[in-house]
Amino acid sequence: MTDAADEHRITVTVNGEPHAVEVEPRLLLVHLLREGLRLTGTHIGCDTTNCGACTVLYDGTPVKSCTMLAVQADGHEITTVEGLGSLSELDPVQEGFTIEHGLQCGFCTPGMMLTAKALITNNPNPSEEDVRWGLSGNLCRCTGYQNIVKAVLWAAAKQHGHVAETNGQGTTVSGRT
Ligand code: FES
Ligand code: FES
Repeated sequence: MTDAADEHRITVTVNGEPHAVEVEPRLLLVHLLREGLRLTGTHIGCDTTNCGACTVLYDGTPVKSCTMLAVQADGHEITTVEGLGSLSELDPVQEGFTIEHGLQCGFCTPGMMLTAKALITNNPNPSEEDVRWGLSGNLCRCTGYQNIVKAVLWAAAKQHGHVAETNGQGTTVSGRT
């Protein structure tokens, strides 16, 4: 059992909403999100920093939340997949994954989308190689990487106002400069 005196009071902003919570020093961020805040869109695939299913944005930077302590989030902003868009207004990354069929079972998808969001925010016009390199810390067990890459390129085009065109075999992105 943990003595209440061992707990730390932290304030963390998750998807724009501040939360003041008491946490054990050893609590992982992913467990705070999933069990403490019931944000189960953040998945646990390996628990060993390999798969990226638990990726969230930490002040805009992708981090693997199975590798961070909850106390490290004190005073910081976390974005989970639940905060990426809404049913009425999907984020371009969510639109891209829908239009380009960027998911199969969907287990890796929340982490993929958050990594992709940071990638296209920092690099408005990524090449296919940029996307593959940027997503290299996120594993897909369904091995659908081709459509994931297309989804991220589509999202970059949408977010930054490039032109997205259809060629009859799915949507492709043009307008790279
Ligand atoms: S669950 Fe965190 S990297 Fe796999
Ligand atoms: S879509 Fe199944 S693990 Fe990626």
